[in-house]
Amino acid sequence: MAEALPKPVPRLLSSPSRRQFLYRLGAIGGVGAVMAGLEAFGMSVASAQTAPPALTGSGAGKRVVIIGAGVGGMTAAYELSKLGYQCQIIEARSFAGGRCQTARAGFSLTELGGEAQHCTFDDGQYINHGPWRIPFNHQSTLHYTKEFGVPLEVMVNDNDASYVLFEGGSGPLAGQPVRKAQVAADMRGHTAELLAKAVRGNRLDVPLSAEDQEVFVSYLVREGYLSSRDLSYSGADGRGYDLWPGALTEPGPGRLSTPFPMADVLHSKAWRTLRSVAGFSQQRTMFQPVGGMDRIAAGFAAKVGHMIQYGTVVERIDQDDHGVDVAWVHAAGQRGTTKANYCVCTIPLSVLRHIEAALPDATKQAMSAVAYQPVGKIGLQMKRRFWEEDHFIFGGHVYTDNEDIGSLSLPSWDWQGAKGTVLGYYQFDAAAIKVSAMTPAERAEFATAFGQKVFPQYRENVEKSFSVAWHRVQYNMGGWAEWDEEGRRTAYPVLCQPAGRIYLAGEHLSYLTGWQAGAIESAWLQIAKLHHQASA
Ligand code: ALA
Repeated sequence: MAEALPKPVPRLLSSPSRRQFLYRLGAIGGVGAVMAGLEAFGMSVASAQTAPPALTGSGAGKRVVIIGAGVGGMTAAYELSKLGYQCQIIEARSFAGGRCQTARAGFSLTELGGEAQHCTFDDGQYINHGPWRIPFNHQSTLHYTKEFGVPLEVMVNDNDASYVLFEGGSGPLAGQPVRKAQVAADMRGHTAELLAKAVRGNRLDVPLSAEDQEVFVSYLVREGYLSSRDLSYSGADGRGYDLWPGALTEPGPGRLSTPFPMADVLHSKAWRTLRSVAGFSQQRTMFQPVGGMDRIAAGFAAKVGHMIQYGTVVERIDQDDHGVDVAWVHAAGQRGTTKANYCVCTIPLSVLRHIEAALPDATKQAMSAVAYQPVGKIGLQMKRRFWEEDHFIFGGHVYTDNEDIGSLSLPSWDWQGAKGTVLGYYQFDAAAIKVSAMTPAERAEFATAFGQKVFPQYRENVEKSFSVAWHRVQYNMGGWAEWDEEGRRTAYPVLCQPAGRIYLAGEHLSYLTGWQAGAIESAWLQIAKLHHQASA
């Protein structure tokens, strides 16, 4: 039967033109109204800000002390110094980047109460144990990768060829690695068949005209790979072949794989990996810097590195009507105080809470409203890339319902190289706390035991590991900030306000917590306020 064509959809707002309309909206309601208007057109930009604030005037003769040489602190220093401010960054670590780190040979980490880990990966092997992906809609991060010439490559954030291993369901597929494409094709195919047949048989109690019904059935045929003849689902080439097509004359086009029965997929619970579209922060096109996430830190440091005083731990922050004093102790034991007109403080609130700081009571109270996410990650260096060589999986994640593992992810770089480093687990909450109580060797064993369930070649190929539990990292005490609704409503606005001459900034003061874009955009907002105050 021929597919019915959908009715033409009337153009949204043909007069006045979209641009005129948005100009008018801007004149009446300011930026917020324009943003809302853009959203109505389905054209909204991704991050709230895509470029640094366009600030005019000069900060010449004014000093700003910035606490923390993470991505947020370095953003503030970079942009403020362009305006003529004299910036100094105080950094507890011996390197720039904050959480923007990459573990490769020579990198060391000692968690609070933990044993020292020294990464001994081979040359070219690494793990981004902090931020590891940049969604295409994080325009603020991409603004700087472009400005600093940090080359990017695609990070495969979803891979239909990868496996789903769900152990909590029942039936023959539970506990078996199954290709995601098979789960997706079969759930959508079986669902589409049921629905299409119900529509055709007039068994749906919904007000659809005959024409609507035909269009709907056409959609289901296309979405579910159904036969347009009898609306049956019998598989889809994208779910794979038992015998691949190639040059052979027999069997010629190959032999398609056979779908799983709907009940098997349903009871395996593997369908939990499926959504119609990926979430906003989990879009398929993601990027990563070529060579490791710390290339972004290096890009910033190339501009502001000369302003950073490394190995310097802040002990106290004072302020009065004239300026800010930051008292610190250097790793070598020397103590000192940095005086400035203003301060941008990017210390995570989980850490700042424990530092004596002359902040208004309301700010101190608001700081306690924020929780920090326990997060664990492990990199496992593998002797060979068996997931590519034996399983034809190039990047992406193994999907699992094992919360103690969270994600097992395959590297999106050095395709077909000799070795590779996989992310063996990436867990949160109680799971992260539980696993972080293990020694590094026990964590590696824990990750290996799970990986072995997915890939028979896993254990024999693990040769080195490096793990982090961010909630046990001295200068972070958590992966990122977690706000609840009440905190967002009451505490968040307080913390975004200038606390006298001190401006708090970082991923924690954004709606993009846990992302570098949040740190950057928070810094952009706060330096605009600082400049406004300094120019008054
Ligand atoms: N930004 C974090 C991630 O990529 C949450 O997983």
